[in-house]
Amino acid sequence: MSREREDQLQQAIGSLPRLSLASIRPTPLEHLPRLSNELGGPEIYIKRDDLTGLAFGGNKTRMLEFAMADAQAKGAEVIVFGAAVQSNYCRQMAAACARLGLELYLILRPVRPIDHQEVQGNHLLMRLFGAHVTVLSDTDRPRQQEIISETVERLRGEGRNVYRPREDDTVDLDGLAYAESALEIVQQSRDLGIDPAWLYLCALDTTQAGIVLGLRYVESDTKVRGISPFEGWEGRFEEMARIANQGARRAGLDIELGAGDFDNDNSYVGERYGIPTPAGLEAIHLVARTEGLLMDPVYTSKAMSALMDHIRSGKLTKDDGPVVFLHTGGYSALFGYAADVIE
Ligand SMILES: Cc1ncc(COP(=O)(O)O)c(C=O)c1O
Repeated sequence: MSREREDQLQQAIGSLPRLSLASIRPTPLEHLPRLSNELGGPEIYIKRDDLTGLAFGGNKTRMLEFAMADAQAKGAEVIVFGAAVQSNYCRQMAAACARLGLELYLILRPVRPIDHQEVQGNHLLMRLFGAHVTVLSDTDRPRQQEIISETVERLRGEGRNVYRPREDDTVDLDGLAYAESALEIVQQSRDLGIDPAWLYLCALDTTQAGIVLGLRYVESDTKVRGISPFEGWEGRFEEMARIANQGARRAGLDIELGAGDFDNDNSYVGERYGIPTPAGLEAIHLVARTEGLLMDPVYTSKAMSALMDHIRSGKLTKDDGPVVFLHTGGYSALFGYAADVIE
């Protein structure tokens, strides 16, 4: 571990344009004694990025501090974005736009039949924050992208200054936000007197890119295991490396990552993205009942089910050393999945 590089990383991220949207930073790193005991493996610690604030918190709060600063610097009046109906990104984006007085158009893709029938969880919150929400008739992703582009063109045609977040040239801002979370984990682990062997998180995109960038930059030995929430797998390691390297260049960090720096497991997705798994539901119940903590049905519960499985199957043991689980938030989606969660 290099303290000098920790300072460099802190300064590099600190020099980027940023808005203040998070309620808490650094977020706490907490021990989960009852869950660790129940599983009988390594001691488990949890990085509470579910507590970042901004409409129930989650990993997007940190990202939006940079992305929305970029939008404001470019004079944006309207934001256009799209994701799944129960998207956490869209929920937090809607809260940020409300706070900043920006208009927001969300083009949402249904994942389950119920997404057409009820307005609940994140979808409910997006509407509450005043976003213009369109729920598409089917889950066709290319068509969704076309409709987003058409919406952008229409608004530009009306003379509006439109911003599309997470485009190729700005997506690294989201990664850099997570390099900072990695730095917090390093410093908080030191304060707690632990040396985490592993960091588990639910990701296959900017969050993992940033976490790996941050840890490798400060020369931490903690290994990162991403657990994918979706099936699309091809080329993702290269893409995470690209995001991390673009962020490093933006922030002036002398590091170059490759696809081989990324470890991710896509065997806990289940049927497909957005559909809870039995193991994920068990994780929601176990974590709730041992620690009074919430996991979400689409992301963190699947990652937690992987961690539980790796411990129960002996892939991870007490001798490996402590594990940090990055809680990326998302539990407002629970209300959109009530029938799955409570059998
Ligand atoms: C709660 C939660 N965890 C994890 C992720 C995955 O983050 P990433 O897209 O950076 O892989 C998301 C993405 O939307 C999320 O909402």
